[in-house]
Amino acid sequence: MIRSVILGSGSAKPRNVLTNDELAKRVDTSDEWIKQRTGIEQRYIAEEDETTASLGEAAARAALADAGVSVDDLDMIMLATSTPNNTFPATAVDIQHRLGMKHGAAFDMQAVCSGFVFAVTTADTYIKAGQAKRILVIGAETFSRILDWEDRTTCVLFGDGAGAVVIEAQEGVGLSNDRGILTSHLRSDGSHKAKLYVDGGPSTTQTVGHLRMQGREVFKHAVAMITDVIEDAFSATGLTADDIDWFIPHQANRRIIDASARKLNIAPEKVVMTVHKHGNTSAASIPLAIQTARDDGRLKQGDLVLLEAMGGGFTWGAVLVRW
Ligand code: UT7
Repeated sequence: MIRSVILGSGSAKPRNVLTNDELAKRVDTSDEWIKQRTGIEQRYIAEEDETTASLGEAAARAALADAGVSVDDLDMIMLATSTPNNTFPATAVDIQHRLGMKHGAAFDMQAVCSGFVFAVTTADTYIKAGQAKRILVIGAETFSRILDWEDRTTCVLFGDGAGAVVIEAQEGVGLSNDRGILTSHLRSDGSHKAKLYVDGGPSTTQTVGHLRMQGREVFKHAVAMITDVIEDAFSATGLTADDIDWFIPHQANRRIIDASARKLNIAPEKVVMTVHKHGNTSAASIPLAIQTARDDGRLKQGDLVLLEAMGGGFTWGAVLVRW
């Protein structure tokens, strides 16, 4: 059977780091509160010349180099983002142009913090349907541009960045020791909209708007939703928490990640945690964490990796992939 194998990865971070102490000079907060409630110590914030497209392009170039392929080898580009450069065209098309690619198709996907999981799943589906052989999947965000910097309940949580993977069709035998995506599970439920949303948009206010979140309400649902969809991934494959080499979750809050891992019986040393360095970078958080685990030598070919995310919508999902 056809398997969607991750050939290479890359990431890009803005130049500027914003620490909790620096933030505490702008809003009524403290390093202690932010660290204790979220685990976040710092985040990267894009400067004016750094955009979702430029960060996405840099991550894409790094992933292509790591995979050893050129844009000529790609059939598609999918960008997961909720902070596009423009309302339209899709920022993926902008990145396609920046990369000098004129063939194939590029489009954006919007599932907020679950965007990378949704895009990887979509890429897997295109590959398995024989519609594409090689797809570049990017998660890139500049959430700093939609934050209300006077709202301490949200502005301390998010950061900017980008990550990318190149996914290729390869032959597998259909067993769980195949390389590639083994299973993926997506969910959404729009009844939770008011808990995490942006209070503007072209069709309503004709403005970009700002992120609004009832943090405690999101927190209350997060662990149950995350663990539910991961259980689906385990039962679809017959794999268990013991089989996992690396748990690479969406990085929103250390307490959510720890509680999810505990509930699933995933050993703490298998959890890739980057929220302390990156904050919540929405659709970029998983590929940024993937790159962190590759750069420090933890994540190697053949490892079984569990990806998971939950975010605005609500949307949530999980992917099991053998690296
Ligand atoms: O990626 C998408 C998914 N998003 C998430 O997963 C986020 C989920 N939610 C969370 O991570 C947590 O709910 C937060 C980190 C947002 C908040 O943590 P919490 O433990 O749920 O705190 P809380 O909202 O219950 O607020 C506790 C107190 C409040 O004061 P009172 O009412 O107890 O007097 C807040 O006003 O902390 C106060 N507070 C702050 N204090 C200092 C809220 N934000 C801050 C702040 N600095 N930045």
